[in-house]
Amino acid sequence: MKTLGLLLVGLLAISGSFGVDKNNFKSCDQSGFCKRLRAFKPEKSHYIVDFENVMIQDNLLFADVNAVDLESESKTVLFRYVLKISALVDSTFRVEMEEVNPLYPRFATMLALKDTPIADQLKQVSKKDGQLVVANSKGLKVVITADPLKIEFLDKEGEVAVVLNEQSQMLVEPLVQRAKKEEGGDTVEVEEEGQWGENFKSHHDSKPRGNEAISLDVSFPDADQVYGIPEHTDGLALSTTTSGEPYRLYNLDVFEYELDSRMAIYGSIPVLYAHGSKRTVGVFWHNSAETWVDVVNYADGTVVSSLVNLVTGGHKRRVTSRFMSESGLLDTFVMLGDTPADVFRQYTRLTGAAPLPPKFSLAYHQCRWNYVDEADVRGVDENFDLHDIPADVLWLDIEYTDRKKYFTWDAQKFPHPSEMVANLTAKGRKLVVIIDPHIKREAGYFVHEDATDRGYYVKDKDGKDYEGWCWPGSSSYLDFLNPAVSKYYSERFRFENFPGTSKDVHIWNDMNEPSVFNGPEITMPKDCRHYREHEDGAEGLHTFWEHRHIHNEYGLFQIRATHQGMLDRSDGKYRPFILTRSAFSGTQRYAAVWTGDNAAEWGFLAASVPMCLSLALAGLSFCGSDVGGFFKYPEPELMTRWYQAGAYQPFFRAHSHIETKRREPWLYEPATTALLRDANRRRYALLDFWYTLFYEHARDGLPVMRPLWQEYPKEQPTYTIDDTYLLGNQLLVRPVVSAGVSSVQVYLPGAESGTVWYDVDSYQPHKANGYFSQEVNIAKIPVYQRGGTIVPRKERVRRSSALMAHDPYTLVVALDANNTAQGTIYIDDGETYEYKKNKFIYAKITYTSEEIAYSFINEKASFPTKSWVERIVIAGIKTPPKAARLQQAGASVALQMTLHKGNDVLVVRKPGAAMAQPWTISFTY
Ligand code: GLC
Repeated sequence: MKTLGLLLVGLLAISGSFGVDKNNFKSCDQSGFCKRLRAFKPEKSHYIVDFENVMIQDNLLFADVNAVDLESESKTVLFRYVLKISALVDSTFRVEMEEVNPLYPRFATMLALKDTPIADQLKQVSKKDGQLVVANSKGLKVVITADPLKIEFLDKEGEVAVVLNEQSQMLVEPLVQRAKKEEGGDTVEVEEEGQWGENFKSHHDSKPRGNEAISLDVSFPDADQVYGIPEHTDGLALSTTTSGEPYRLYNLDVFEYELDSRMAIYGSIPVLYAHGSKRTVGVFWHNSAETWVDVVNYADGTVVSSLVNLVTGGHKRRVTSRFMSESGLLDTFVMLGDTPADVFRQYTRLTGAAPLPPKFSLAYHQCRWNYVDEADVRGVDENFDLHDIPADVLWLDIEYTDRKKYFTWDAQKFPHPSEMVANLTAKGRKLVVIIDPHIKREAGYFVHEDATDRGYYVKDKDGKDYEGWCWPGSSSYLDFLNPAVSKYYSERFRFENFPGTSKDVHIWNDMNEPSVFNGPEITMPKDCRHYREHEDGAEGLHTFWEHRHIHNEYGLFQIRATHQGMLDRSDGKYRPFILTRSAFSGTQRYAAVWTGDNAAEWGFLAASVPMCLSLALAGLSFCGSDVGGFFKYPEPELMTRWYQAGAYQPFFRAHSHIETKRREPWLYEPATTALLRDANRRRYALLDFWYTLFYEHARDGLPVMRPLWQEYPKEQPTYTIDDTYLLGNQLLVRPVVSAGVSSVQVYLPGAESGTVWYDVDSYQPHKANGYFSQEVNIAKIPVYQRGGTIVPRKERVRRSSALMAHDPYTLVVALDANNTAQGTIYIDDGETYEYKKNKFIYAKITYTSEEIAYSFINEKASFPTKSWVERIVIAGIKTPPKAARLQQAGASVALQMTLHKGNDVLVVRKPGAAMAQPWTISFTY
C-alpha cells in the first residue's frame, strides 16, 4: 500500500511544486497558549516576593511569592507560589517556581539532565531596601528584588549579566478546576474560550487540565547576539522576532521544510546563549512541552530607537528573550560563563557530552532509500572498491523489513542478512538498519501482539490504544515512558531477537518526533496518554501524563531504550552507533543527528553549516546533513561541493529519496567521481584527527564544530559569521556553497594575536587579517590549519577505516609566530569500552625549534598500536635545522630532511618512530 508520504511525493512529482505546506503547522496565533502569552504584556509584574518568608540552606534559597491583584487596593493575593534558587557548581544557578499546593502536580521533564546537578553553596550577602543579595562559593551574586519580582545575576565584575522578569513576562498560569454552572436545571461545565479545548484544522485537543502555560523573559545586558534554541533553518545568530513568528520548539516531521525559517522542525533544544565582547552567558529552559521563544536584539536596527533608549537607558547592546511553554514546570538554569567555552561546558555538564563514538561512525556512510535487495547492497559495496573510494557503512532504509514491521526482514529481498553483513564486515565495513518507533497494527506481528496484550502502547484521550498512520499504514506507538516498555524494546535488539544482526549492525531511529501522518501537525495528539508512575488509589488525571507534557522528549525515550538494548546485546562490550531524527536536550548522550529531509539545492547545502553549528552549541556535535540532498537530484557541481563540505562535517552520510535518480559516486562522469573520491579521501586522511576531537569532546563537552567567536570571543565581525567554522581550534573550514564561483571570501580570525593560517593544500601561510579572497576551482576546498597546531593524518587510504588502524601517521606541524606548535592524538581499538580500563593512548605532541616530543597525557596509557610516523611536515619554518635525530627506547637514529616550497616547509622523512611509546626528535642548527 502506498503510504501518505509517498502519495504526497507522488502528487508533488505531478504538480512539480516544492515547499512546505504551512497550513499543516500552527502559527503562534493558532497555538492557544502562544497567542495568549504573547498578548500578555503587563506594565508591572504581579509577582511579589515575601521577604519575611525566605530560607537559605546549603545551596538553596526558598522564598514565598504572591501573585497579587494589582487592580485591587489591598493587593489581594490571588495565588501563592514558592520560588527556589539553587547554586550549582561551575557558575550555574537554577531557578524554579511552582504553585503552593497545585491542583495537580506539574510535569517535570525527565531525561534532559544527565544526573542530579551538583550543588555549590549559597549564602546571604545582604537584605535591604527590598533587595536580597545571595552569592555562590565563587562570590557570583544574585540580586532578588521583591516588588515586583526580578532576579539579576551578576558577573565576576559585579555587572548585571542576566535578568529574569525584567519585562514582567514571568507567568505560571494557575491550574484551576473547570467551573460549572446551572443551565435549565442542569449543571454544565463552563466553556471559556480555548481553556478546555482547542481546535486545529480537523483536530480537537481536549485539554483536560485546562490552561497550564508558563513564561519567562530573560534579558542579556551587553549582549551583541544570541544563539542556540535549535533546530531551525535560519542563521546561527538569532533574529528579532517582534514583527514575525517567534522561534518554535516542537519536534515535527515537516515535509519539505523551508529555509530561513523559525518554524519548528525535528529537534528542540531549549538552550540559548548570549554573547558579546564582555561575556558569554546562557540559559537552559528545562521543559519538554511545546515552546515558543521571542527574541529582541536592540542593536539590530529592528527596534525603534526611542524604545531602545527607554529600555536600555541609552546602551545599545542588549538582547531580550522570552520563553513560553504550554505546560510543565517553570525551571530554568542560568549559566554565567563567562567565556563561550565556559558556557558550552556548563551546558554539557548539565545534559551530558556525547560519549566517544565508535571510530567507523566518523567515516563515510552510504545510504539511500532504499538499497533494494542483497544484490544491490553487494553491488554498492563492490563499486566502492572498484572505484577506489573509501566507505565504512552501508545503510538500509525501511524497505528491508517485512512490510515495515521492524525487527523483521523482507524474506524475498533479504533472505540471508547474516551473510550480507559478513560480506561487509570482511572489509571492515558495517551496516546500519532503520528502526522507527511506530508499530504496524497487524495481527500476528509479534511486537504488535506483545504491545497490545501487555498494554505497551500510548493511549488516546479515552484510554484506548492510540492508532495513527505512518509508513506501515495503521500503526500504534510504544509508550517508552513505561520502564517495562523500554526494557521490552531494548530486548528486541538482542542478537537472538533480531536475527541477522551482529555487533557490526547499528541503528537508525527515524520518525521519532513522533511522525503521525494523520495526526495534528503530523504528530501525536497532545491529549494522548502516557504511562505515569502513581500511587495505588490515584485517579483520573493523576494516573497519566499527556503527550503535550513530554512531546519533545519522546524520541529521546526511544533512543535511550535503543542504546540500552545495543549495550546489552554485547554485554556492554561494544559502543553503539545510533542516528536519530528528533532531538532534545540530552540526545547527545545516545545518538548522532542529521538535519532531516533536505533537498538537492544550494540553499540546503549552505544551511547545513549554521544548522549543525547551532546543534553543536546545544551539545549535539555529531551532526550532518543528507549529502547530495534528500529530495531532487544533485547535478555534478552541487554533488561535488556537498561531498567536499560533508567531508568536514561531523556526520558524513550521503542519502536520497526513493523516487530520485540513483547517485552513488561512480554514477557520475569520471571527472566528478574523481572529485567525490578526493573528498572522501580527505575525510579518511583526517579520521584520527576527528577521533581525537570527539575524544576530547567526551572529556570537556565543548563543540567539535565551532563558530569562530568561540575561539575569538572579542572579535566582533565573527559574531554573525556562520558560513565558516572551526574544527576544534585547529582547522578553519569555509565550504563552497554556491554555484560557479572562482573565489570565496574567507574570514581569518586572530589578527590581534598575530595568528597565521596555513592553507592545507599548499601550506601557504596567511596572516590573519579578517576577510580575504581565496581563489577556488572545483577541486579546491578552502581549509586552513592554525599556526601553533599539529594535526595527525593517515595518507594511505584504504577501503575502510578499520583497515587503516595500524597505518603510519603523517604529522602536520603548522608553526605560529614563536616557532612553536602543539597537538594531541587519541588512539584505541575504535569499537569497545576497553579505553575505560586505560587501554588507549592520549598523547601530546609539542614542537619547539629544538625538538618535537611525543609523550603520553594518560600516564597509564597502554595500547599496542603498530602505527608509526612516516612523515613530519613542518610548515612555516624560518631557519631550517641542519640535522635531526630520533630518540626512542634508548636508541638514537639520524633522520633525513628535505626543504620545499620557498624553503619554509621542512619534511622529516621516514622518522619511523613507533606511536606505542614516547619519542623525541631533536634538531641541531
Ligand atoms: C524519513 C527520513 C528519511 C527516510 C525516510 C524513509 O523521511 O527523514 O531519511 O529515508 O523517512 O524511511
